Amino acid sequence: MPENVDGKKTRADPRHALRPKYRKEKPMKGDKKVIQALNDVLMAELTSINMYFVHYKMEKNWGYDKLAHHAREESMGEMKHAEKMIDRILYLEGTPDMAKYDTILVGDSCEQHLKNQYAVEKKHVDRLKKHIRLCLEKNDFGTKELLDDILEETEESCDWLETQFQRIQDIGIKNYLTEHMHG
Ligand SMILES: [Fe+2]
Repeated sequence: MPENVDGKKTRADPRHALRPKYRKEKPMKGDKKVIQALNDVLMAELTSINMYFVHYKMEKNWGYDKLAHHAREESMGEMKHAEKMIDRILYLEGTPDMAKYDTILVGDSCEQHLKNQYAVEKKHVDRLKKHIRLCLEKNDFGTKELLDDILEETEESCDWLETQFQRIQDIGIKNYLTEHMHG
């Protein structure tokens, strides 16, 4: 029998005796692996916010306002993705990990910016597909739907970048940059 502060024997809380589940820690609402996957996506989104934001600032500084505007929009878009991940992790009773980042690819020219953005977006498509498969496995259709939406937007970003590479090939980098000076 447990003892209270002055050493007297005391009966255990009868609720605990009758309903042993009170003694156990409440399990998390979400699957641990799904929460890990969401944190992995969050890590990528946080990295992209920073990459696009520094591209925006550099391109603005170089006078390529149109490109800068696009990079800024992308940075804001990534912030919305990060917010969705944080909200979902909290809903599943996990902890959002705000401290992990991938390498932030910068680059010293507009063309290198576009190439780095493409590398990051392509990698993210693969990451999202992998985690969507996990959600299906775990029957977490709510998380799957969220990741589906992000995947669609990430594929659109890849598509936009592919168009830019084609344009650069067609008209040359100098003409392309002239086209992207004014927003
Ligand atoms: Fe994103």
